[in-house]
Amino acid sequence: MVSRVIPVEPFDLVIFGGTGDLARRKILPGLYRRFQAGQMTPDSRIIGAARADLDDNGFRALVAEAIAEFVPAERQDKAVLGEFLKQLHYVAIDAKGEGGWPQLKALMRSGVVQAFYFSVAPALFGDLAERLRAHKIAGKNDRIVVEKPFGRDLATARELNATLARHFDESQIYRIDHYLGKETVQNLMAVRFANILFEPLWKAEYIDHVQITVAETVGVDGRGAYYDTSGAMRDMVQNHLMQLLCLIAMEPPYHFDPNAVRDEKLKVIRALDAVQPQDIVRGQYLAGDGQGGYLEHSENPASRTESYIALKCHISNWRWKGTPFYLRTGKRLRARTSEIAITFKEPPHSIFDDAEGWRENVLVIRLQPNEGMNLMMMIKEPGPGGMRLTQVPLDMSFADALGEAHQETPDAYERLIMDVIRGNQTLFMRGDEVEAAWAWADPIITGWESRGDKPQAYDAGSSGPEDALMLMHRDGRRWRDIR
Ligand code: BG6
Repeated sequence: MVSRVIPVEPFDLVIFGGTGDLARRKILPGLYRRFQAGQMTPDSRIIGAARADLDDNGFRALVAEAIAEFVPAERQDKAVLGEFLKQLHYVAIDAKGEGGWPQLKALMRSGVVQAFYFSVAPALFGDLAERLRAHKIAGKNDRIVVEKPFGRDLATARELNATLARHFDESQIYRIDHYLGKETVQNLMAVRFANILFEPLWKAEYIDHVQITVAETVGVDGRGAYYDTSGAMRDMVQNHLMQLLCLIAMEPPYHFDPNAVRDEKLKVIRALDAVQPQDIVRGQYLAGDGQGGYLEHSENPASRTESYIALKCHISNWRWKGTPFYLRTGKRLRARTSEIAITFKEPPHSIFDDAEGWRENVLVIRLQPNEGMNLMMMIKEPGPGGMRLTQVPLDMSFADALGEAHQETPDAYERLIMDVIRGNQTLFMRGDEVEAAWAWADPIITGWESRGDKPQAYDAGSSGPEDALMLMHRDGRRWRDIR
């Protein structure tokens, strides 16, 4: 099976913050790979725009270095790189002043798709949006792309939305949550809505509970200053885990269409109950394996910021009333693994005497690594020992199932940037969705801030704090192992 690459229309993509970390690690290597795949055609251009005093060649040298560093060696190709670099340009720009804007305007072409990537601090979004309009660089068909963090609470998210709305229509704004660009996250929708198999069982009547885990082995090393203003709740739960929860819990949209999908996600977020303090566990990693603990990385020896969070939440609607969703995410844990596990209920009546051998059916969707699905099923234990039951996995790795042409999945950013050019907002967050997610997260955060709660210490390389285990034990359930 060979994947189809459909070239996108010619475009001019301006990357504000084009010399920054995200541009070097993700955006530019991603564009190089789309160029290499033939999706970005040679009549498209990438224009770096940042404070640094560079010219086109200086920017090209910086991009060549980034590609050497962040694109896997087997994907590096000198000839392709040479062609790719020819499509790069640079303008030194002053986001808060007028410097560089006339030059940028002179560079832009009409008759091609125009997109502006704000890979800068959110404090600059307003300045950029205003100047793009004032200098008549961006028109009503052009697109802007903004990164997370999109606000740090409901009030700041509203302010950002209002600032952008003064200059751009919602249909022009692409808010990135890179989890939505991951192949396997999109696969959640395919699994649910392209198969009849699961849908009849996809409800509280048959599902005991859902576990969503995003575990990382990395710490906050080097990002301590940012992380200390954020914490796992703002950095991971309000956005990435919330999106995963929405894709599992949403009603089938009438069509795979941006607003239809986002309307359904929004309904889920709005149906979330307030989370009770006893249903949240926060943790902070200790030093271990020769690496510093959170407090050393954060540079604030008294920091109460959490690097781990586990919580139980409920969705109050007809489909989910009574089925808890357990979410957890953390840094410096035992393994890097992201998965969603759906545990089904017992059959209503057992015809077998072997009650001991019975285990629940569990559908596990592995998001990373080794993307795939695993359905734990009951079968008869082989042998003449009577009707004994045993559980076996129906295990599928997407890589094995799809064959060699699909061994290498594109990075989330590759997919998302191409969607911006195609003008498809399905995998981007709408303003009301972000606000609803903050409206849910805010009371949780203000609750522990006002109580002065301290996160519980946990060992680096462990599965998280002890209390997180208790969160499930109390309900007669247990977390799946992190491995
Ligand atoms: C980012 C967070 O959005 O996602 C990081 O800011 C986190 O703290 C990262 O490490 C995880 O993304 P991925 O793609 O590595 O799972």
